[in-house]
Amino acid sequence: MAKKIGRNDPCWCGSGRKYKACHQAFDEKIAGFAAAGHIVPDRKMIKTAGQIAKIKESAKINIAVLDYISGYIKAGINTEEINTMVFEKTTKMGGYPATLNYQGYPKSACTSVNNQVCHGIPSEQVVLKDGDILNVDISTVLDGFYSDSSRMFCIGEVSPEKKKLVEVARECVYEGLKEVKPWGFLGDVGQAVHDYAFAHGYTIVREIGGHGVGVDFHEDPWVGYNTKRGTEMLMVPGMMFTIEPMVNMGRVEIYIDERNGWTAYTEDGKPSAQWEVQVLVTDTGYEIISY
Ligand code: MF3
Ligand code: CO
Repeated sequence: MAKKIGRNDPCWCGSGRKYKACHQAFDEKIAGFAAAGHIVPDRKMIKTAGQIAKIKESAKINIAVLDYISGYIKAGINTEEINTMVFEKTTKMGGYPATLNYQGYPKSACTSVNNQVCHGIPSEQVVLKDGDILNVDISTVLDGFYSDSSRMFCIGEVSPEKKKLVEVARECVYEGLKEVKPWGFLGDVGQAVHDYAFAHGYTIVREIGGHGVGVDFHEDPWVGYNTKRGTEMLMVPGMMFTIEPMVNMGRVEIYIDERNGWTAYTEDGKPSAQWEVQVLVTDTGYEIISY
């Protein structure tokens, strides 16, 4: 908890209202969960109305870019072409790709094919072919506000096994979303995602997960999917994070490409699928910010 605010001081959220008429009861409720031993968000994880409006502007671009590239993704194109389209569409709309030069990442998108789990680096050498499954992960920064989401694409005629994996990975995200509500826990989300994948015989990558997002590209909390109901951080209105489980058809283990330091692959070489949404916890449940 940050420093104490007087009841009649202006609220920390920037609403201009007195603290007692704004977030005081909310802060006290959170303090009650903390006293009961739960992990609770700190104030900087709670987005103000002004920040949410800006993040939505960023997400408008992110969604539009994913919509735009969907029209061009087909067998025969290479992933560098996708990267170029992402850069051009994003900048044309006034945003900038958040991954470009992020901690040395060289491209405007992540493009992960088949047994690549995530952080596939676009390349002219990677030509999409019939039967591939592809994740395109896009993130946008606009005026310092961030959005992040990803979708799967099936290239031409995809085997029923891979198609099923892609569908279940998507459903996993929606199972998780059903659990997003104030005064629930991130473990509720994690377990729902996990149980759904496991019921279909799949595994969920342990080492990489979702994250807070909005004011920064990657904020706390970390959002894992091997967590238990009633544990992990308390969700409160104004929190924003991604749900982005990587669902493996086979074993859970992954490794990182030593040559580029980024791309994760399944250890057993079997396919992996991922969808990512950016979600806001509202007073009554959730709102999808980017998809
Ligand atoms: N959009 C990815 C995520 O979900 C970005 C990973 S960082 C990168 O967090 F540099 F690899 F792109
Ligand atoms: Co993300």
